[in-house]
Amino acid sequence: MLSDQDRIFTNLYNQGDWGLEGALKRGSWSQTKSFIDKGRDWITEEVKSSGLRGRGGAGFPTGLKWSFMPKVSDGRPHYLVVNADESEPGTCKDREIMRHDPHHLVEGCLLAGRAMDAHHAYIYVRGEFVREREALQAAVDQAYDANLIGKNNVHGWDFDIIVHHGAGAYICGEETALLESLEGKKGQPRLKPPFPAGMGLYGCPTTVNNVESIAVVPEILRRGGSWFAGLGRENNTGSKLFCVSGHVNTPATFEEEMGITFGELIDKHCGGIRGGWDNLLAVIPGGSSVPCVPGDKMRDAIMDFDGLREVGSSLGTAAVIVMDKSTDIIAAIARLSYFYKHESCGQCTPCREGTGWMYRVMERMVRGEAQKREIDMLFEVTKQVEGHTICALGDAAAWPIQGLIKNFRPVIEERIDQYTHNAKADGAVPSIAAE
Ligand SMILES: Cc1cc2nc3c(=O)[nH]c(=O)nc-3n(C[C@H](O)[C@H](O)[C@H](O)COP(=O)(O)O)c2cc1C
Ligand code: SF4
Repeated sequence: MLSDQDRIFTNLYNQGDWGLEGALKRGSWSQTKSFIDKGRDWITEEVKSSGLRGRGGAGFPTGLKWSFMPKVSDGRPHYLVVNADESEPGTCKDREIMRHDPHHLVEGCLLAGRAMDAHHAYIYVRGEFVREREALQAAVDQAYDANLIGKNNVHGWDFDIIVHHGAGAYICGEETALLESLEGKKGQPRLKPPFPAGMGLYGCPTTVNNVESIAVVPEILRRGGSWFAGLGRENNTGSKLFCVSGHVNTPATFEEEMGITFGELIDKHCGGIRGGWDNLLAVIPGGSSVPCVPGDKMRDAIMDFDGLREVGSSLGTAAVIVMDKSTDIIAAIARLSYFYKHESCGQCTPCREGTGWMYRVMERMVRGEAQKREIDMLFEVTKQVEGHTICALGDAAAWPIQGLIKNFRPVIEERIDQYTHNAKADGAVPSIAAE
């Protein structure tokens, strides 16, 4: 469990002053110049040694990603782009950094920018985040006024930060769609390769990172990569912001050490499961895109990348959605199917057609108005969508349904039996409904 002195986000609940004065008192912007002076390789190596993995969902090693940026300039500017789109249902962590601890992010941009030879950072903020954008912009302005960033700043590395707001589309959180949108185009994902490090924003070398990934960098450099690597488990290091919603007694966003068990996490921070542990039905542990896990498998599950893979799911954004036994699990997953159908950008056929098809079948399954053989057919279609699309939205639409079928098949079958029974009682006998 995370000790108080190991916490990075010490103003997460805005109990102090989120502005520059408060941030300075909490230790932000100290030794920053010495880190800049040590140069790009030192910063990148320190982040590599910390074991930090991207906090935006995929968990790609951050230092390694930075090392893909060209070492020798061909004249094109390099860009850092911060992904503050935070639209994954259940996820509400980046907004707390922007509202309550924004200087971690502003300082992190400068340091990450130095590590990739970038003099500009764009922070792409979700359209609906108005207060977050205002707080972040105010923090950026404070940093300019204090000459911490900008031209000829005290750190000796010219650096501009532009806060840009989106128009509120989930797909613009996908990194290449985000870049398109930032360029003023329709936010639709691009085929990769080319990867952003080779050809990103305006055709220039670019790295896209999540808000939390960048915001933890200043403390990693101040306390050392080995300090961060000492938290959590190998390959799953550090502390992490978790956002717990749903049927717990006190839903919350908080920082915890990776590797804590789900049971400890819920009892320590969320006052337990509503109605007690026996009342737990299922958990979606990493944001709406990841498969749900039955409650009895969850209590001892380890909350990190490898631990959640062992129970057939994923850490994703660490947005933990808890469902107790009052939940209609088929309806809950069908609602997510509706979301992905709605958010599909429509570029590729398996996603455009598949998300609509899957949703329509799910809608019938909620009522039980289906044939049992359609369960396998639905599973098969999710497999046809998964991995066959330009971006991972197709996978995100497929995985929740796969999790439902793998873990709650008897519930779906029971619903079909119930529907068939009722239909028979009404005199409308669907001859093959119970096949
Ligand atoms: C449909 C879709 C939506 C995404 N939304 C977000 C988002 O809101 N925020 C985010 O940081 N990453 C999001 N991602 C992941 C980004 O594409 C990218 O991997 C991430 O920003 C990289 O940052 P990291 O390496 O620091 O995790 C999304 C991916 C997909 C496929
Ligand atoms: S997978 Fe879906 S959201 Fe992604 S590019 Fe294809 S159609 Fe668009």
